[in-house]
Amino acid sequence: MRVGGSVRVPGDKSITHRALLFAALARGTSYIGGALTSLDARSTARVLRQLGVEVSPLREGTVVKARGRGRLRAPDAVLDCGNSGTTTRLLLGLLSGHSFRATLTGDGSLRRRPMQRVTVPLSRMGAHFEERDGDGLPLTIRGGRLIPLRYEMPVSSAQIKSALLLAGLAGEVEVQVREPHGRSRDHTERILRAFGYPVVEEAGWIGFRPGGSIEPFELQVPGDPSSAAFLAGAAILADEGELRIARVGVNPTRIGFLRVLDRMGAAILIDETCEHVGEPVADLLVRPAALRGTEVGAGEIPALIDEIPLLAALASRARGSTVFREVGELRVKESDRLSLIAENLRAVGGRAEVSGDDLLVEGVATPPAGRVRSAGDHRMAMAFAVLGTVDGARIRVDDMACADVSFPRFRDTLRGIRTKGAR
Ligand code: S3P
Repeated sequence: MRVGGSVRVPGDKSITHRALLFAALARGTSYIGGALTSLDARSTARVLRQLGVEVSPLREGTVVKARGRGRLRAPDAVLDCGNSGTTTRLLLGLLSGHSFRATLTGDGSLRRRPMQRVTVPLSRMGAHFEERDGDGLPLTIRGGRLIPLRYEMPVSSAQIKSALLLAGLAGEVEVQVREPHGRSRDHTERILRAFGYPVVEEAGWIGFRPGGSIEPFELQVPGDPSSAAFLAGAAILADEGELRIARVGVNPTRIGFLRVLDRMGAAILIDETCEHVGEPVADLLVRPAALRGTEVGAGEIPALIDEIPLLAALASRARGSTVFREVGELRVKESDRLSLIAENLRAVGGRAEVSGDDLLVEGVATPPAGRVRSAGDHRMAMAFAVLGTVDGARIRVDDMACADVSFPRFRDTLRGIRTKGAR
């Protein structure tokens, strides 16, 4: 297979969620360029509308009109967060500073995901929760006056950290948090700083203090590095050519996968970096390469958490073995990714196993063939679609439609980088 051309990927999912949530706190009209239009982003837009915020249909120029901090309205129906953990957890933080009741739910996958990791610290700040079915959704929140929090998080997670920072913002109280291993994505901290809020990092603690103000803004969302990773993976597995992926966010807390791929022998160049609203943006230039196995340490995981399905698929084509250390967090993503990655790699003739919280993948040379179960998990489906681009591969993914959760028109884009390059 040959790859070629220059492609754009959809807007960054994490930044789109945050841009919508911050715009919902500004008094006036904000413009979000390049917003992601996927199902997850639509979940955030939908629930914000239920909270009294005017959000235009998501498109290249999304317009948000809001009434200012503390002015969200009590919803008159349950807030359905779809498949989106980020929508749910960040919203719980924001709603903690609002004194009305709201009930949140989601699809089958989201209802099973743990929420106490945010409800426990938010309760300490003074929010009230009614959890019906143990640790998960649906749950009801009633926010109100909050008190400051100093909290050591049990896992490194940008969703927990952001929920607590947003609670601090909504409730105008100080928040200090610490992550156990490695640094999770820091988009929330960057946006807060852009609005003049002091966010200070010291001895592993991230400290937020009231002091800024959220004014209406214009923001251009960069391409999502997590979506770019799939196209980069396909380009690495190709036989010849070069692919340019234009205007991708290259925030260091998001591009751990590039550092690992570099170690594995991939040729990826970060070209023409510029900065927009505190976020670095660049083109990625990717060439085919022969990969070798590597060890991915626990401290590296937060910066590549969403790329592990793809990295594991690539590791199955590498010479030697690859180990991902302490990736137990994968069990509570959109699917139990830890066991499902191993199961699917074995289903297509690969060698992979889970040992405690580690994932081990052995490279094989035979073309992958077999049926893959996505369990409705967008990243699982896309990782195996990429593996299916290997010469001679015969992979059938049971549900590719779930790619729409983060990457609308994924299949066309993947096809496009191949045919465009065909000579
Ligand atoms: C996200 C954080 C990550 C990631 C998710 C998006 C965010 O979750 O897996 O896709 O936007 O904050 P955790 O921080 O809980 O690992």
